[in-house]
Amino acid sequence: MTDRVRIYEVGPRDGLQNEATPIPLDTKVEFIERLVHAGLREIEATSFVSPKAIPQLGDGDDLLPRLSRDAEVRYPVLVPNERGMARAEAAGADALAVFTAATDAFTERNIGMSVDESLAAFKPVLRRAEELGWWRRAYVSTAFGCPYTGAVDPHRAVSVAVRLVELGVDEVCFGDTIGVGVPAQVAVLTGAAVQARIPVERVAFHFHDTRGTALANVQAGLDAGVRCFDSSTGGTGGCPYAPGAAGNLATEDLVYLLDASGYEHGVDLEGVLDAARFIAGALGRPLASKVGQAGGWDAATGAAIGR
Ligand code: HMG
Ligand code: MG
Repeated sequence: MTDRVRIYEVGPRDGLQNEATPIPLDTKVEFIERLVHAGLREIEATSFVSPKAIPQLGDGDDLLPRLSRDAEVRYPVLVPNERGMARAEAAGADALAVFTAATDAFTERNIGMSVDESLAAFKPVLRRAEELGWWRRAYVSTAFGCPYTGAVDPHRAVSVAVRLVELGVDEVCFGDTIGVGVPAQVAVLTGAAVQARIPVERVAFHFHDTRGTALANVQAGLDAGVRCFDSSTGGTGGCPYAPGAAGNLATEDLVYLLDASGYEHGVDLEGVLDAARFIAGALGRPLASKVGQAGGWDAATGAAIGR
């Protein structure tokens, strides 16, 4: 089992999509530049959804061309349909994430389709992305629980993931959209995915930290062999169609756990803290994450670092 972990940063997309404060394009560009400077190499930059659904990310067409392109940095964008794919292509994207869920009730509220309809809508999108040689991810939201229908059978989440793998995605990411999951569920879900012949290398997790279980869930994922986790610098995030969803796991908290546990990931904690303070300042509020408040810890001296 490799000790290398991929940190997939969702701050610019999930982190900002639910914010009331309008965020200028220049601020978004600078936030992403600071994330790159911190060593993040997969940064979900924006989404190409209806600007009526998510006004905060309506500037994706202008944002993507502003990002400095480095072969080592991937900027996936969220795409719900062919219209979004055309916009992503025009803006110069080369990686995408489609998104559906384990439950029809959430999918209908989020993207106006049943799960089956969403898979049908993704088919031409993923075919086109494959033609273009793009990296392709798919989210299965509400994999741990749904704000409209309650508990979710892990086999239901896995059956949606299997169909997405059949549509040719490189990675499936199970989302705890409203932050209700616990470590035992992570173990069961990962086991069910592997049993359904989804290689563990193609599984990722996306935890919202609504109830403080996100970091424990990451540890359960690590123990089960998963090596890709989503997080949001500054711990921002939420979905307007998921009542009760709070911020994502903070990247600074994830980096602290991985560093202290001896995993390699290439991300610098002080750089993340710098980007976290920058975005918290732009949003006009204090940095709420645990490591954002306490700083990291230098085991050689016992002192806090990056405060
Ligand atoms: P709809 O109303 O059902 O479909 O929306 P429509 O095809 O009738 O389109 C309605 C209007 O949107 C039309 O414009 C379309 O042209 C336009 P109008 O005629 O009214 O002027 N439109 C678009 N405009 C720009 N880009 C597009 C696009 N598509 C249609 N791509 C739709 C369906 C999917 C568009 C809408 O429901 C939508 O945009 N939903 C997005 C919801 C969203 O972004 N949610 C947050 C992301 S998911 C999430 O956060 C979870 C995740 O983090 C994982 C986890 O936490 O579990 C990923
Ligand atoms: Mg999310």
